[in-house]
Order: sequence, then structure tokens, then C-alpha cells
Amino acid sequence: MTNFKIKIGLIGFGRMGRFYLEELQKSGRYEVAYICDLSEASRQLAHQLSPESQITDNENIIFDDPSVQAVALCALANSRKEQIEHALNRGKHVISEKPIADTVDREWQVVDIAENSSCMTTVNLYLRNSWYHNTIRDFIRSGEIGELAIIRVCHMTPGLAPGEGHEYEGPAFHDCGMHYVDITRWYAGCEYKTWHAQGINMWNYKDPWWIQCHGTFESGVVFDITQGFVYGQLAKDQIHNSYIDIIGTKGVCHMTHDFHTAKVSLHGVNETLELEKPFGGKNIDRLVTLFAESLESGKRSESLPQMRDSAIASEYAWSFLEDAHQHTLPAIGNLRTLEQIRERRRTMTNGYGLLHQR
Ligand SMILES: NC(=O)c1ccc[n+]([C@@H]2O[C@H](COP(=O)([O-])OP(=O)(O)OC[C@H]3O[C@@H](n4cnc5c(N)ncnc54)[C@H](O)[C@@H]3O)[C@@H](O)[C@H]2O)c1
Repeated sequence: MTNFKIKIGLIGFGRMGRFYLEELQKSGRYEVAYICDLSEASRQLAHQLSPESQITDNENIIFDDPSVQAVALCALANSRKEQIEHALNRGKHVISEKPIADTVDREWQVVDIAENSSCMTTVNLYLRNSWYHNTIRDFIRSGEIGELAIIRVCHMTPGLAPGEGHEYEGPAFHDCGMHYVDITRWYAGCEYKTWHAQGINMWNYKDPWWIQCHGTFESGVVFDITQGFVYGQLAKDQIHNSYIDIIGTKGVCHMTHDFHTAKVSLHGVNETLELEKPFGGKNIDRLVTLFAESLESGKRSESLPQMRDSAIASEYAWSFLEDAHQHTLPAIGNLRTLEQIRERRRTMTNGYGLLHQR
């Protein structure tokens, strides 16, 4: 730990922006010089939570200030490419939310710009920074489960409903699902080869809000990913189901969490371990620490997710969604139920993936 503080500007002060502010403040390694948001309500909140920061609706003030060393970009995907471009052109390091742009073409343009810049860039593929996935990957690498063969990932919550926000981020399987597409590829350590996706147009909404995709990797490892924000949104008491199963030729790893605690079961040939630790949320504490360490040492941490990883995950998530559209896509339920869900979520204060109240 040094006394040197990284002067940073935060752009986009919604749900994620607030998480960033909290972690940047806690880390002690950053000076949050600016917070920018287009919404008046978000700016008022920023004044309250960070009175020492300059609050603005004009991002150019941040880009034009030569003393700002880095930006954290947490607005929506439609503004991300230009913001990354502006930041890098002005010599600022970038922590970006995912996806890194709103179309695949533009995401690859970002990768190009980032890889040709001398500034450091990273993206919040938060599962890569979780203790549970790193513990499991270390266990696999130690040979305890034999050869990696099957990766099964499931994440179903009564989360963000269609039409509530994040429209530029795409349907649930892209917006949230790209994390699972990414982490499955991270475990496999190679590229996807074949896939088949089945979706359902729940509530007769035009896009599937639940998808299961299975297939193979170049290595022969097989996968199945199930992701849906269609999990009992109108249940009196809400519940979710999130787990990962990693099956090898000899042993198996399992993880499940309740958003507070993550439980990892490692069943290897020599060792059986049952671990239980705090879930860690979006792991932004780890992201901003790795970023600060990388900037301070001038050597990029290998654990920092790359823009390229985000573009790849995003492109595959779109491909899997597209594949679901090629097969029978039943519609079950009606838009009236979806309206009831949105109505309920508008007034919820404690739920899954609620957008910030304006
Ligand atoms: N990595 C993760 O796990 C994760 C999780 C949730 C969301 N996200 C991503 O983070 C981003 C933000 O999500 P959120 O849930 O905080 O959304 P949000 O709607 O709560 O917040 C977005 C904020 O950005 C502001 N904004 C929009 N355009 C702007 C612009 N051009 N300049 C400045 N401010 C602008 C809005 O006024 C709003 O306050 C999304 O792109 C989403 O995909 C990532």
C-alpha cells in the first residue's frame, strides 16, 4: 500500500456506479475527483455520498482534465464505446462495465482501440474475480478431479424483467448471461465449438427471457448454461437457484450461493473440502485493487479481465440467443402477467436485480 492516490472520474451513477463509489472510497487508493450522470436525481445522490467530488452532467470535463488518470465507466452500453475512446485518446486508464459497447462490431472496435493503447484497460467480468471460481479452478488444475469433462452452470433469479431498463444490454441471456458464457469459457480455457440453445418467450414477451444452451468446446469439454430472469417473480416469497457443477473423469466440484454466502464442495481423489465464505457480490473491491496494483507497479495483473474476453463472451451470448430463435420458441403466459411483475418490482425495495430508484 502506498500513499499515492489514483485520481479517477466515475461516469454513470446508477446501481453499479454506487457500488464503484463505495469500493473506490473504501480502498483508500483512489481519489474520486468527478462523478458524472445525466440524471438530476443521480447527481443529487452523488453530492450526498461524495461531497468532495465534482458532480457534473458533462463527461468532457473529466476527459479534458489532464490530472485525471483513470475513469470508471458505469453508464449504459450505448455510450460506452465513445467514452472508452475519449478516455484512451486523452491518456486515461479505463475500468469499464460490460458489455464494452452496444453491438458486436463496436465491441471489436473497442478491443482494437484498447489493444493499441498504452493505457491500461479492464472490464468487470466479475465472476473471474470471485473466490469460489478461483478456488474451483485451482482444484481442477491440481488434478484432483482428473480430466475436466463437463461444465454445468445455472443462474435463475426473479431479476430484471423485460422493459425495465438495460435495453442496450440485450435480453437477459446477453445482459446477465454473458457472465456465465464468459466463466464457462474461462474454465474450459479454449473456444466454444458447437451449440444448441432452447428458449421460451415467457409471458408472450417478444424475446426469450430464459435460455438453456448446451454444446462443446474445441477441447471436447461439454457445457450447459441455463440462465433466466423468470423465476417466480410473483411468488409471495421469492427464491433463486444459482449453481455450478464441474465434473471431471474422477471427481467433481460444486458451488451454490444465496447472494450472501457461497458454498463450494470439492470432491477430489485425495481431498474433500467443504468451504463456505461470504459471496462477495460483484467483487468490485478486488477489481479496483488489482487495477490500482497494476497501475502502481506498471505491470498488468494477469487476473484483470481483458476487453477481448468481454467481446468474445458478448459475441457468443448473442450467437446462443440467435440460435434459440432458430428453433421452436414457445410463448407461455401473457403480457398482463409481465405488467403485474413490473408493477410489483417498481415498488420493491428488497428484490433481485432492482434498478436504482430515481
Ligand atoms: N458487471 C456486472 O456484474 C454488472 C451488473 C449489473 C450491471 N452491469 C452493467 O453496468 C451498467 C450500468 O448498469 P446499472 O444497473 O447501474 O444501470 P442503471 O440504469 O442503474 O444506471 C445507469 C446510470 O447511467 C446514467 N447514464 C446513462 N447514460 C449516461 C451517459 N451517457 N453519461 C452519464 N450517465 C449516463 C443513468 O442516468 C443512470 O444513472 C450496464 O451497462 C450493465 O450492463 C454490470
